[in-house]
Amino acid sequence: MRDRGERAILREMPTPGDAPIRERDPSGPPTRPAPPVLPGDDPGAIAVAAEWLRTGGLVVFPTETVYGLGANALDARAVARVFAAKERPAFDPLIVHLADASEVGAYAEMADADDPRVARLAARFWPGPLTLVLRKRAVIPGIVTAGLPTVGLRVPDHPVARALIRAAGVPLAAPSANRFGHLSPTRAAHVVAGLGSRVDLVLDGGPCRVGVESTVILLAAGRAVLLRPGGLAIEAIEAEIGNLEVLVDGAPGTAELAPGRSGSHYAPLTPLELADPRDPDAVLAFAVQPGERVGLLAASSAGRAAAEAVGGPFAAVEVLDADGDLVGAAARLFDALHALQAANLSRIVAQPVPDRGLGRAVMDRLRRATHDAPAGRAGDQYGRAGDQ
Ligand code: TXA
Ligand code: MG
Repeated sequence: MRDRGERAILREMPTPGDAPIRERDPSGPPTRPAPPVLPGDDPGAIAVAAEWLRTGGLVVFPTETVYGLGANALDARAVARVFAAKERPAFDPLIVHLADASEVGAYAEMADADDPRVARLAARFWPGPLTLVLRKRAVIPGIVTAGLPTVGLRVPDHPVARALIRAAGVPLAAPSANRFGHLSPTRAAHVVAGLGSRVDLVLDGGPCRVGVESTVILLAAGRAVLLRPGGLAIEAIEAEIGNLEVLVDGAPGTAELAPGRSGSHYAPLTPLELADPRDPDAVLAFAVQPGERVGLLAASSAGRAAAEAVGGPFAAVEVLDADGDLVGAAARLFDALHALQAANLSRIVAQPVPDRGLGRAVMDRLRRATHDAPAGRAGDQYGRAGDQ
C-alpha cells in the first residue's frame, strides 16, 4: 500500500477511503465526498497525478474523446481497482493509452506492431480518436485485456493526457470514467457526479472536443475488423487501409472478438426512444400526455421545429447541432444526454442523425441507449456484456 508519509506532495490531498460515507439526506442514498479536482493544465497537478499513478492510484484525466479512468496498465492491482470503481465486469477489456506511437512495439507482438497498416494508421491518425487492437506482449497483465490475447492501444490527442502519461512514465489503462452501463463523461463534473471519491484525483481539462469514444478496430493476423464506431470516421480509416469487416451483434464470433459489445450501453437513466418527427408512423412518440415530462433530443434546429410542430410541449430540449453538423452532434451528444437525464423527465425522445461519418458513432450510442429501460438495469449489470 501507499506510504503517504513519504510523499509530501500528496500529504495535502484528501484521501479516499479515509473519509466515512456520509448521508446527504437521511432518507436519500448514501453519498461519498467528491474527489479532489485539479486543473489539468497545471504542471504541479500533473506531477501529483503521476505520483498517484506510479503508486497504484486511480486518476481521471481528459482526452479528446471522453474522460478516462486511468491506472498504471502494468500494475494488475491498480487495474483491478479500475474494474471495482466502475463496477465493470471482468470480461470487458480496457484500452491502454500511450504517449507516443513509437511505444506500440513494447506492448504489441512484433508481427502486429510491424504491420504496415499499423504504421500507416498511426502516422495518419495518432494522436487521435482511434484504438488499434493488436496481439499483446506478455508485459500487459491479463486483467487489462480480460484474458484476451489482444490489447487495445491508443495515443490520445489531448495535451493533459499526453503530459500525464509522460510524467507517469507508464502506459495507462483507462476506460471511460463512468460507472458501468452509465453515460460516458465529457466534463469533469460528470465524473464527480458519477464516480465520486472512488477515484483518487480528477484532472479537469474542460469539455471534451470530440465527445464520443474512440473508433476501435482489430488489426491482428491480417484481419481488419471494426469493433466500435467512434470519434474517427470509418470512411477515413477505409481510405487508408481498405474496407473494414463489420461485426454484427449476436452473430457467431462477435462476442469472442468484441466482448464489450452486446447488451445495453451508454444509457441514460431515463427511458429513451428514437423517433423521426418526419416519419408519420413515429409522430405518436412526440405526443405529450397530461402529467408527462418529455425531453427532446433534437438533431438540429430544424429537427426541433419539426418535433414541436407534431408534438410537445417538451419539458426540456437539447439540440445536438443547430445546423445538423455531425461532428458538432458527436461533440454534444453525451453532454446533452447528461443534461436531459438530470431534468427529471418521464422519457426522452431522440431524433436519428444520418448514419455516416461521426453520425455513425452517434447512432450507435443512441441505439444502444434505447435497448433497456432503467428498471432492468440495476440487477443485470454483471449478467451481460456492456461497453462501459
Ligand atoms: O475514447 C475512448 O476509447 C475512451 C478514452 C478514455 O480513451 N475509452 C473508452 O474505453 O471508451 P471503454 O473501456 O469505455 O471502451 C473500450 C472498448 C470496449 O468496448 C472494449 O470491449 C474494447 O474497447 N476493447 C478494448 N480492448 C479490446 C480488445 N483487446 N479486444 C476487443 N475489444 C477491446
Ligand atoms: Mg465506456
